[in-house]
Amino acid sequence: MSYSLIDKYNVAGPRYTSYPTVPYWDIETFSLANWKQSLIKSYEESNTDEGISLYLHLPFCESLCTFCGCHKRITKRHEVELPYINALLKEWKLYRDILNKRPKIKELHLGGGTPTFFSPENLKLLISELLRTSDVDDNYEFSFEGHPNNTTKEHLQTLYDLGFRRVSFGVQDYNPMIQAAINRVQTFENVQKVTQLAREIGYTSVGHDIIFGLPFQKESDVLQTITKTKLIKPDRLAFYSYAHVPWIKGNGQRGFKDEDLPSAESKRLQYEMGKYYLQQAGFTEIGMDHFALKSDSLYEAANNQKMHRNFMGYTASKTQLMIGLGVSAISDSWYGFAQNVKSIEDYYQLLEEDTIPVYRGHILNEEDLIIRKHILNLMCHFETSWLNGDMTFTALPETLVKLKEFEQDGLLTFERKKITVTEKGKPFIRNICMAFDLRLQRKKPNTQLFSMTI
Ligand SMILES: C[S@@+](CC[C@H](N)C(=O)[O-])C[C@H]1O[C@@H](n2cnc3c(N)ncnc32)[C@H](O)[C@@H]1O
Ligand code: SF4
Repeated sequence: MSYSLIDKYNVAGPRYTSYPTVPYWDIETFSLANWKQSLIKSYEESNTDEGISLYLHLPFCESLCTFCGCHKRITKRHEVELPYINALLKEWKLYRDILNKRPKIKELHLGGGTPTFFSPENLKLLISELLRTSDVDDNYEFSFEGHPNNTTKEHLQTLYDLGFRRVSFGVQDYNPMIQAAINRVQTFENVQKVTQLAREIGYTSVGHDIIFGLPFQKESDVLQTITKTKLIKPDRLAFYSYAHVPWIKGNGQRGFKDEDLPSAESKRLQYEMGKYYLQQAGFTEIGMDHFALKSDSLYEAANNQKMHRNFMGYTASKTQLMIGLGVSAISDSWYGFAQNVKSIEDYYQLLEEDTIPVYRGHILNEEDLIIRKHILNLMCHFETSWLNGDMTFTALPETLVKLKEFEQDGLLTFERKKITVTEKGKPFIRNICMAFDLRLQRKKPNTQLFSMTI
């Protein structure tokens, strides 16, 4: 890849888990009343057929990894588990009261923080209660994020018995020096053991998260990590670009200096090399940052154009309505987004008052809905088209001018009213999506809001 392309396109840009992106939500016009309306509309349109997704945010971690961009609360006090579970169940009851029926769950994902911070008994209590009060789709998918250091056989067995078949483990990098810098020490043997355990129990998809662009990381470290990963061969891999966002409140991104981070060129080389070795090992690149073996459901979904992207990342099927429970969790009705308060104390307080603990959100207008579809098409399938009139929007000519420049740089091709991202263009997918992001273009941020695209 040419360095001039990196120079040209390494800008701050969104990762597009939503459109509009969170900093561009119109919070002034958002209210709990219009959020509830959009929720009911979406539920009535979709619950009977496709069902809904539930995301549960479990924020506790025993120790702070200093690279982490997730919303978490560090504590070793496990007494926090039960009150938090009760609060989640209370929130679920508030949603069920609004929806006024037994929701049909298609997807259930436990994210964090560290879901395996909770004891197996407490997780069982939580999930059993959720399932007792819902119907479950025949083709359900339950998944969770596990920390390799504290996921036990009991965790895996308990969640398997409740219907979980997919787990992803945070690996990041195997070099002990990098692990020390990010305060995330875990051995290869641990990861291997917990992956094998999950397979023996019957999990059909075991994923690993690895990261490039970490402090002190070199290409040889990424190669080492991939060489070890090949020995275990997870079914799915998230190969994340390290997002350096130290300005986000509560982030633990310290313990290293900005100078300790690899340059944009070196980071891009780490990605190129990683991609090459992963492909050699039988993984196919899927969407942005993801790889899967041909036997994994995400590969099949990507091939059949069924893959979807939301705040949980990539999923093998689309549900129109996703309800996020827990602190900081985001819900998505397709027509609107709503985010919960971030402080655990505020969360408890609002639930105590029987109030949905949402503090901000956005209701999409007609233009947002069209752009959302284009960005989703690009992020999931690397192509989008406006052959159908309902995919055009008034500022399309301006967007086309920007897309022409990508074409000249060989990052995409035009065919009638359709663009397809080339292999060379895939690492620049965030930049290509930005050409459609009219809210970003109309109001450029004064301070840095997003991580760099490379
Ligand atoms: C919530 S964590 C996973 C669960 C569990 N807490 C763990 O650490 O194993 C989800 C994943 O997000 C990724 N992640 C967290 N912060 C990141 C950052 N700043 N840049 C890129 N990826 C990040 C890591 O790969 C991590 O495994
Ligand atoms: S990476 Fe996982 S364990 Fe570490 S602080 Fe973030 S959420 Fe917690």
